[in-house]
Amino acid sequence: MASGLIDWELLDALSTSPAMSQPAMWNAFADRYNGYVAMQADYTRLQIGAMKISPDDTVVDVGAGPGRITLQAAEKARLVTAIDVSRDMLDHLEANVAARSLQNVRPLHLSWDEVVPGDNVPLHDIVVASRSPAMRDLKKLDALALKYVFVMTFCGPSLKSFHDTLVTGIEPEPPRGNGGYRSPMAGYALVFNRLIDMGIEANVGYLPDGFSGSWRGWDDLIAHFSWLRIPPDGLDRFRNNITPYLTQDTTGLHLRMETRTAVIWWKKDPRLPDAGSSAI
Ligand SMILES: C[S@@+](CC[C@H](N)C(=O)[O-])C[C@H]1O[C@@H](n2cnc3c(N)ncnc32)[C@H](O)[C@@H]1O
Repeated sequence: MASGLIDWELLDALSTSPAMSQPAMWNAFADRYNGYVAMQADYTRLQIGAMKISPDDTVVDVGAGPGRITLQAAEKARLVTAIDVSRDMLDHLEANVAARSLQNVRPLHLSWDEVVPGDNVPLHDIVVASRSPAMRDLKKLDALALKYVFVMTFCGPSLKSFHDTLVTGIEPEPPRGNGGYRSPMAGYALVFNRLIDMGIEANVGYLPDGFSGSWRGWDDLIAHFSWLRIPPDGLDRFRNNITPYLTQDTTGLHLRMETRTAVIWWKKDPRLPDAGSSAI
């Protein structure tokens, strides 16, 4: 419900594509998302640091994907529940959990729409929705948390825009809306303002984010990106597309694509210590 001049809920509804909550789209992108996750570990560590997870904490990662946040959170928390609507994303998450021998991750194949806080999903100390359509229902995120809620979203180029650049000229252009506008996931400005309308004074911090990797040479690099499934006749174009992100020295090729992530967080009780990127 709008309480000011601007109806932030309506703006959010208008700028969010319903496709973002469809398992089919995420299943189709799961192998690729998992491939990109491995190239973000250093930046993900900054986001985990911002969450100030204690060894006794329970964490629920809503829209967990292949576990980019879950895997590192599980190294700090007592228990992490990883909710996702996509079976293929959870298959990657389970394989990643097994590869790290983590014992404290509970994958939950469930749509966020079906989650009832305190009923089919217990309340958790920390709730995180990172790059997740779950940020559409901020009231439910708040209801699921005992201590802190973290909503994280790109505030610079996204994983999808990086991916689209790498496959330009190799795969069909992704569809665009009216006027060539491609709707992004709900921006953090909308999240922040919707929280104000809910009476929640959220904190906003910003963290460097991005993708990095090193390879001995082109053969290694191309082998690493096998999960992109670039056809043989697209490899020259792929080399051209990725070259702007590479530097070369005597040890090999080094990729760095830099962007930023906004961390919006609030605490359920004012007596709790501060978290967030400013507290790192
Ligand atoms: C962009 S990925 C983000 C993954 C991870 N949170 C991260 O930060 O890397 C979005 C994830 O949300 C999941 N998702 C989309 N709609 C959902 C819904 N209604 N309920 C649960 N998960 C959902 C997708 O399957 C996908 O794995």
